[in-house]
Amino acid sequence: MQKIFAANWKLFKSPAETRQFFKNFKEVVSKSTGEVVFFPPAICLEAASESVKGTNIAFGVQNCYAQVQGAFTGENSAQTAKELGAKYILIGHSERRQIFGETDAAIADKVALTQSLGLTPLLCIGETLAERESTHTYRILETQLELGLAKADKTKPVVIAYEPVWAIGTGKVATPEQVAETHTDVQTILTKLGFKAPILYGGSVKADNAAGLIKQPHVGGFLVGGASLEVDSFIKIASV
Ligand code: PGA
Repeated sequence: MQKIFAANWKLFKSPAETRQFFKNFKEVVSKSTGEVVFFPPAICLEAASESVKGTNIAFGVQNCYAQVQGAFTGENSAQTAKELGAKYILIGHSERRQIFGETDAAIADKVALTQSLGLTPLLCIGETLAERESTHTYRILETQLELGLAKADKTKPVVIAYEPVWAIGTGKVATPEQVAETHTDVQTILTKLGFKAPILYGGSVKADNAAGLIKQPHVGGFLVGGASLEVDSFIKIASV
């Protein structure tokens, strides 16, 4: 199956910086060995949409609300993202869970809405350091998947990103052995729940560790934060 290389820009880049990035990225995108997907800030979505028109570069928003419109000040509409050409919605990133108090129940509704619009949810799961150290990782991931996919349609596409919270933005990448073991667990849980989904790894993926991680079993690609902000480092990762 084709690998997926996803870029999570978080709250970085303006519309002008987005346009400049894609101007340079389009010159090197053919080096990628898989599908590339960008999650710019929602306010840059139109700039991204215009910039990638006519290419096979996909994009989406970093979060959506569980309804397409209404009195929900400050939220993003998945429907509007779709109208702009989005293909994916990032859902349940650990920063959403930890900083904004997003619950598994809300995540399940967002996954269901995203699929109902014909878009692909990219559902993030992952354990904290305390959870890993108390060897609860399997149970945490199983609960996040069970609850997050509770309303999902098994016949429609869904992508999972396994992102250990302790590896996000910390420079502390999971070892290839940890990735192999945990991705095998995630694959087991997904099979048990009846889902078929690529499993991306995320958490301090860089140009110099990507090649070792992509070879591990059940690694379907990467979700990249910091290293996706520069064309050079991201294309190196996307061409492993
Ligand atoms: P990082 O972020 O690559 O900067 O660790 C990954 C993510 O948050 O998706």
